[in-house]
Amino acid sequence: MNSSRSSCTNSLTILVALLVGLTLLPSAYAQSLTGKWAGVDKIMDNGQPHKMILEMQQSGNDLTGTVKSLGFSLEITGKATGNHFELFADGDKKPFLIGDLMGSDLHVVTWGTDSMVAKPAAADDQIPTVKYIDPPALHKVPSNGLAKTPPMGWNSWNKFQDKIDDATVRAIADVMVSSGMRDAGYIYLNIDDTWEGVRDAKGVLPANHKFPDMKALADYVHSKGLKLGIYSSPGPATCAGYPGSYGHEEQDAKTWAAWGIDYLKYDWCSAATVYKAKDLQPIYQKMGDALAASGRPIVYSLCEYGLGEEQKWGPDVSANLWRTTGDINDSWESMSTIAFSQGPLAPYAAPGHWNDPDMLEIGNGHMTEDEYRTHMSMWSLLASPLLAGNDIRSMTPATKDILLNKEVIAIDQDSLGKQATRLSGNGDVETWSRPLADGSVAVGVFNRGAAATNATVNVSDLKLSGAVKARDLWAHKDVSSSSGAFTASVPSHGVFLLRVSAAR
Ligand code: GLA
Repeated sequence: MNSSRSSCTNSLTILVALLVGLTLLPSAYAQSLTGKWAGVDKIMDNGQPHKMILEMQQSGNDLTGTVKSLGFSLEITGKATGNHFELFADGDKKPFLIGDLMGSDLHVVTWGTDSMVAKPAAADDQIPTVKYIDPPALHKVPSNGLAKTPPMGWNSWNKFQDKIDDATVRAIADVMVSSGMRDAGYIYLNIDDTWEGVRDAKGVLPANHKFPDMKALADYVHSKGLKLGIYSSPGPATCAGYPGSYGHEEQDAKTWAAWGIDYLKYDWCSAATVYKAKDLQPIYQKMGDALAASGRPIVYSLCEYGLGEEQKWGPDVSANLWRTTGDINDSWESMSTIAFSQGPLAPYAAPGHWNDPDMLEIGNGHMTEDEYRTHMSMWSLLASPLLAGNDIRSMTPATKDILLNKEVIAIDQDSLGKQATRLSGNGDVETWSRPLADGSVAVGVFNRGAAATNATVNVSDLKLSGAVKARDLWAHKDVSSSSGAFTASVPSHGVFLLRVSAAR
C-alpha cells in the first residue's frame, strides 16, 4: 500500500517536472514553422513599405517554401534548430534570411541588414497582383546603332546599393573627369535601382527625394562630357521593390528621353512573377520599341541573368548588351566562376551587341590586386562592358592603375569586337586569346591555383606568321621570346597578359 502510494507520488513528480521542463525549454520542443507570415522589412526611399510574405513548410528540421516581396518571389530551402531558422535561395551558401520564432511572430533579418517582425498573415496579406498583359507578337526592332565598342562607365549598385543620390552622382561625375577615367573611355554614369518615386495619377513615374531634379542632373553630367544611365524592370516592381515599367513602357521611355537619359539597364526581377522565360524576347522587344519611339539614342542593356539565351535574340530587340550571369560579388570565387565560364558565348559578341558578365568589383576591397588584375584582364579579353562598381572618389593608387590601364582598355575596346575563347586549359592554368583589328593577338595566361606557377605562351599557338614582338600589358614593357615562347612566373590568381604582333 505504502509502496504504491509512493510510486504514485513519484509519477506525479515526474509529470510536473516534465511540464515545467517543457515550458522552460521551448527550443527542445519548438512549435512548427509551417505557416504564412507577413511583414515589412523597410520603408523604401519612395515612402512605400517593402512588404514580404513568407510561406514555409517544416518537416523535421527541414524547411521549404517561398518568400515573396514586391520585386521577387524566391523558392527557399532552410533549416530549423529549435525556434531558430535560416533560409537559403537558389542554392546560395549564405542564408539570405535568418529568424527566430518568438511567440507567434517571426523576428527576422534579411540580407544581413534589414530586420522585421513578421506576423501570422491575414487573409488579405499578399503581394499585389497585376492584370496580365499579353506579350506582343515578335518582330525585329531596328538596331539603334549604339555601342560599337563595349560600353564603359560606372554603375551605382555594387558599392552604393540604395545609398545613392543626386549629390553622390554629381561628385562621381567630377571624379570621372579629374581622375582621368572619362578620358580613358569611362563615359556612362549609370544610376541603378532605388531612384524611383511613386507613379502619379497620369501614370508618370518621377524620381524619389534622393533625385530632386533628374533633368538638371543629366544636364550636369552632360556638361562634364559624360552620359547618364538609368534602371528599370519590365515587371511591376524592380528587384528592390520600386515601381517597374510594366504597362508603362512607352510613357517611361518618354520620361527618360525628356530627362536626357542615355542608357537603360532593364532588369527582369518581378517580370518573372508575371511571365515565363519564353516571354523574355517579346517583353524585352516591347521596351526596345519604346526606346526607339522615344526619339533619343539610348543604349539598351538587358539584365536577365542568362535565363533565356538572350545572346541569340538580343540584337533583334535592339539590345546592346545582355547579362549572362547572376549577380557578381566582390570575391575571387564569384568573379572567377563568372569569368572562366564565358567561353561558349564568344560567337555572339560583335560591335553593337555584347555579352555582359556583370559590373566590375575592382576597388571594392575584398579581392587582392592580382585578383583585380585578373578581373580587368578577363573582362577586356571577353569584350565585356567595363562598368566600374567602386567608389571612385576614394581609389587607392593600385585601383586607379588597374581601372586606368590604357593598354588593357585598348584590348576591351578593340574595334574588331571579337570575344576571347579558351586557347588551352591545363589544371589551374588557363590561356585565353582574342584576335585584334590590327592583326595582333591579345593573350592572357591565368593562374587559378593557390601557388605561383610558370606561364608559357607558345607563339605557334597564336596563328601569327613570321617573327613576332610582344608587349606585357601589366608590366608596360616589351618582352622577347625564347625558343618561340614567352614565359613568366604568374602569382596565385594572377595573370600574364600580352599583346603579340607581327614584327614588321
Ligand atoms: C538585380 C541586378 C543587380 C542590381 C539589382 C538592383 O539583382 O542583377 O545588378 O541591378 O537587381 O536591385
